[in-house]
Amino acid sequence: MAVEEKPGVKSSSSIVPCFLFVELVIMAGTVLLAYYFEYTDTFPVHIQGFFCYDKSFSKPYPGPESASKIPPVLIYSLVTAIPTLMILAGELCTFFIKAEGVREKTIVTADCCYFNPLLRRIIRFLGVYAFGLFTTTIFANAGQVVIGNQTPHFLSACRPNYTALGCQTTLQYITERRACTGNPLVVMAARKSFPSKDTALSVYAAAFTAMYVTLVFKTQGTRLTKPTISLTLLCLAALVGVVRVAEYRNHWADVLAGFFTGGAIAVFLVTCVINNFRWLQPGAPSPRPQRPESLLGMPMVTLPCVESPLEKLRGDLRSLRSHDRQPYRFPAAPDVLIQSRSISSEV
Ligand SMILES: *[C@@H]1O[C@H](CO)[C@@H](O)[C@H](O)[C@H]1NC(C)=O
Repeated sequence: MAVEEKPGVKSSSSIVPCFLFVELVIMAGTVLLAYYFEYTDTFPVHIQGFFCYDKSFSKPYPGPESASKIPPVLIYSLVTAIPTLMILAGELCTFFIKAEGVREKTIVTADCCYFNPLLRRIIRFLGVYAFGLFTTTIFANAGQVVIGNQTPHFLSACRPNYTALGCQTTLQYITERRACTGNPLVVMAARKSFPSKDTALSVYAAAFTAMYVTLVFKTQGTRLTKPTISLTLLCLAALVGVVRVAEYRNHWADVLAGFFTGGAIAVFLVTCVINNFRWLQPGAPSPRPQRPESLLGMPMVTLPCVESPLEKLRGDLRSLRSHDRQPYRFPAAPDVLIQSRSISSEV
């Protein structure tokens, strides 16, 4: 437990190594997993069967993903750029406008490194955002690979030979693994539909940014600015889902599941991990109540603010305090003394 001695400065020799060795390892693992899902066939797609002439899978093939009206490249760029710019702008504005507000602590490690609150907040929010982005990708990819639900254009991509498969009625279910005669890569892509990854990523980015704008931006005088930005972003994310359905790349259920996945991850990260973008860290002690010493009129111990080495100072301070706690009898107020003791033992 870090005890801060000087308001606004937190000294810790453990935060930065912890950051490096824990956060970065987790981040690297997440990125690697996302990479393996996205660009390799380490995790084979579950092969689902299909009904002959199934109407829900018989939509025309809309071409490769890059031929879409909202191609993946565009989604990935927007999903990276918009929240990053919003967070950078929001942090810089809040930091320079809020001149003497609640400041987060500057971390002092040894004597060399100072991480000012602005940098800490930017790194924290962008890091958590990026983590969530990769997590959303992993969730969506894992769902697609494990479930193996087909896209609406699956039969056009698969091109099964119905005569060879002996299809007479639409009630016949084909489980033959080599039923498809189409391009194997296209068929493989057409087996990944649930949930919609593009929708999940868009909704994640939109929800995260909307919450950031709503909770952090200070727009005095205009009540409608923040909801306008937030709802515009959510509309754009919804538009991605609509286009996915309109281009026969996903079913409505896939888009809804993508909405839920992205939105849930964003809400979880914002509310539980970064505490609604608040300025104080979770678990940081609230401003202390008045010291019992001053309550009793005892001399306050004032120590020079030394930043390093703090461990030694902390020990000195503790021994000094225990000396001060010697009973000091007020002739007329014994109950005050008892009260002060219980308070000081809490502190
Ligand atoms: C479909 O299968 C039948 C019987 O095996 C074969 O005669 C026919 O040429 C195949 N059609 C195509 C388009 O491959």
